[in-house]
Amino acid sequence: MAIRDILVYPDPRLKQVAEPVERFDAELRELVHDLEQTMDAGPGAVGIAAPQIGSCRRVIIIDVSSRPKLKNHGRLYLVNPEIIHWEGLETGREGCLSVPDYTGNVVRAQRIRVSALDPHGRPLELDMEGFEARALQHEVDHLDGLLFLDRLVSRRHDLFKRKTYQARKDKP
Ligand code: NI
Repeated sequence: MAIRDILVYPDPRLKQVAEPVERFDAELRELVHDLEQTMDAGPGAVGIAAPQIGSCRRVIIIDVSSRPKLKNHGRLYLVNPEIIHWEGLETGREGCLSVPDYTGNVVRAQRIRVSALDPHGRPLELDMEGFEARALQHEVDHLDGLLFLDRLVSRRHDLFKRKTYQARKDKP
């Protein structure tokens, strides 16, 4: 179990479509653990997807609870997540551990319903909205080989160079 290297754009492995998980075994638990350690080692990430650490499996973690004013479910470990309902559209700013130098404006659904399995193979269904829904949609995109860069309407108007990303590590 370890902090793993994060693949960075334009690594071609980020473009692969991840495979569904079929076995809920020690290997999956290790992957979830590595994902969590890698996310927590990063600068204020609200989510991570297995392909970002080079594992082509449909596993994500999201956690927007560091922004307590937002409605959220705490830390979620989701296997084979699927968005089964969408409502509304909203533009918002996104960053990504795999695109460390930029943020971008991306249109996402405002409210979603997600079906997934937990790391023990138990089914879950969750309603999400706002920033948590955005984080989930961003991570599910990683499972389908998509980055937020692929969702920009215009690279010229919707892509922003990041200046302070590294500085966030120094926060107490
Ligand atoms: Ni990302």
